[in-house]
Amino acid sequence: MEAKKVKINKRLDLARLPQHIAIIMDGNGRWATRRGLPRNMGHKAGCENLKVIVQHIYDLGIKCATFFVFSTENWRRPKEEIDGIFAVVRDYLNEDGDDFVKKGARIIVSGDYKKLPADIVETFEHLIDKTKDCTKFTLNLAVNYGARDEMLRGINMVVREGRELASPDEFEKYLYSSGLPPLDFVIRTSGEQRLSNFMLWQLAYSELYFTRTYWPSFSPKELQLALIDFQKRKRRFGAV
Ligand code: IPE
Ligand code: IPE
Ligand code: MG
Repeated sequence: MEAKKVKINKRLDLARLPQHIAIIMDGNGRWATRRGLPRNMGHKAGCENLKVIVQHIYDLGIKCATFFVFSTENWRRPKEEIDGIFAVVRDYLNEDGDDFVKKGARIIVSGDYKKLPADIVETFEHLIDKTKDCTKFTLNLAVNYGARDEMLRGINMVVREGRELASPDEFEKYLYSSGLPPLDFVIRTSGEQRLSNFMLWQLAYSELYFTRTYWPSFSPKELQLALIDFQKRKRRFGAV
């Protein structure tokens, strides 16, 4: 998280920001291919951009952000690419780990991250523990995450407890996102207009925003434009 001053668009109302924003960071591969680079260079550039956007979300004063880092379906990619993605995750955690604590940022993970290489699992555990009392900002990293897996895991916990749940709110406690603010706004980059098994429970009433920009090129300026678009929407939640 390197601090770099970004001008705030005058049309953005800082008093009406979403409480919880999520980003499906898509398009790293195409960003690289366009430039004649190997796909893994796209993941490296994507990780650099993750740092920039996390910093900007934090600077704007948004309290919680979820980033889709690696899906349960991404294991279908060639081993070399998977290793490349894990290498950038490793570097990110090692480089920015101390900064999270300094900033009062809590790190949590959605997904079965224990299936990652042992040293990354250890780093995650260390960071989760070290930042558990930080309250200024929550960074939720979706790693080896799939919404269907998350829901099935929750259902199995309920079954093991022999309970019958009375309301959807009760089920939320069994999800990785338990305790996080409601997911207000989801952005997907790269032009794909699908959810790819991302937070299917949590986004029942989220506002969705799709942009053609590839993730490594998605700038703080464009994030502000997306937030301005969010602020123009009338959320009804089924009422009139
Ligand atoms: C998103 O970029 C990053 C991950 C899924 C890990 P992609 O790697 O999916 O990039 P495209 O969609 O192939 O361009
Ligand atoms: C979704 O992107 C997963 C992440 C961004 C981590 P994908 O590139 O894997 O999604 P599909 O395969 O295009 O649906
Ligand atoms: Mg993709």
